[in-house]
Amino acid sequence: MKRTLAVSNVHKSFGGVRAVRGVSLALEEGHVLGLIGPNGSGKTTLLNLIAGVAKPSKGEITLDGRRIDGLAPHRIVAAGIAKTHQIPRPFLSMTGRENVAVAALYGSNKTRDLPEAMETAGRVLGLVGLAGKEDVASSNLTVQQRKRLEFARVLATGARILLLDEIFAGLSPDELRDAVALFARLQGELGFGALVVEHVMRAVLTVSQHVVVMEEGSKIAEGTPQEVVQNPAVIEAYLGPEAGRAPP
Ligand SMILES: Nc1ncnc2c1ncn2[C@@H]1O[C@H](COP(=O)(O)OP(=O)(O)O)[C@@H](O)[C@H]1O
Ligand SMILES: [Mg+2]
Repeated sequence: MKRTLAVSNVHKSFGGVRAVRGVSLALEEGHVLGLIGPNGSGKTTLLNLIAGVAKPSKGEITLDGRRIDGLAPHRIVAAGIAKTHQIPRPFLSMTGRENVAVAALYGSNKTRDLPEAMETAGRVLGLVGLAGKEDVASSNLTVQQRKRLEFARVLATGARILLLDEIFAGLSPDELRDAVALFARLQGELGFGALVVEHVMRAVLTVSQHVVVMEEGSKIAEGTPQEVVQNPAVIEAYLGPEAGRAPP
C-alpha cells in the first residue's frame, strides 16, 4: 500500500514567535510536493514537526491515518519518514560510507548487521553519484558532495517519504542542474514520496507536481507550479507589495 502523510491544521510557537500557523498538506508516496516560501516562513519548522524533532503546539500529523505527531524522531524514521538537514551535518571524522551505514542501521529497512549496512551504504553512495568518494572523510567533502551525502543518508534508511530541506541550495548553476536531474531520475526509479523545501523557486517548480507556498507561518497558496507562479499573493510574498499588484 502507498503511504500517505497528512498534516492537519498544525501550529508551532517558540515563545512569542508563531513559526507555523495552521498549515495543512498531504503527500502520497510516489508524488513530489514542493514547499516554498521566503526565509523565515516556517518551512524548516514544519519539516521538524513531521520528523519528530519538535512537537506541534496544536494540530495533527498522520501517516496512513495513524497519529505520528509527538513520536520520537527514531520512531518516525522507523515508520518510513526521513529528513535531511538544511545545513548538512555528517559525523565529520567518519567516511561517507560510515555515515550512510549509520542511517541504514537506524532506518526502517531493519538492517541490523554492520557488514550489510556498509554494503547498502556503498550501493546508495553510487546512486547519488558519490562512487569513488566512499572512503573519504566527510570533513573533506565539498558542499555539493555533502548535500549528496545527506540525500544518501535518507535513502539508506529505506524511507518511503523523504523530507528534503534545501538540498538544491548553495550549488553553482551546473551543480544545480545535475542535482535536479539526479533527483528526478532517482525519484522515478525508486518511487519515493518527497516533500521538497526550498526558498529558491526554480528547482522546486521543476521537480514538483504540486506546490504549497508559505509566508509568515501560514499557507498562502497551493496548486500546480504554473498556478503558484502566477498567483499574485505569491509574487507579492517574493518580490514585495508593488509586484503583486496588477499593472495600472
Ligand atoms: N528553535 C527555535 N526557537 C525560536 N525561534 C525559532 C526556532 N526555530 C525557528 N524559529 C523561528 O521561526 C520562524 C520560522 O523559521 P524556519 O522554520 O527556520 O523558517 P524557514 O525554514 O522557512 O526559513 C523564524 O522566525 C525563526 O526565527
Ligand atoms: Mg529553513
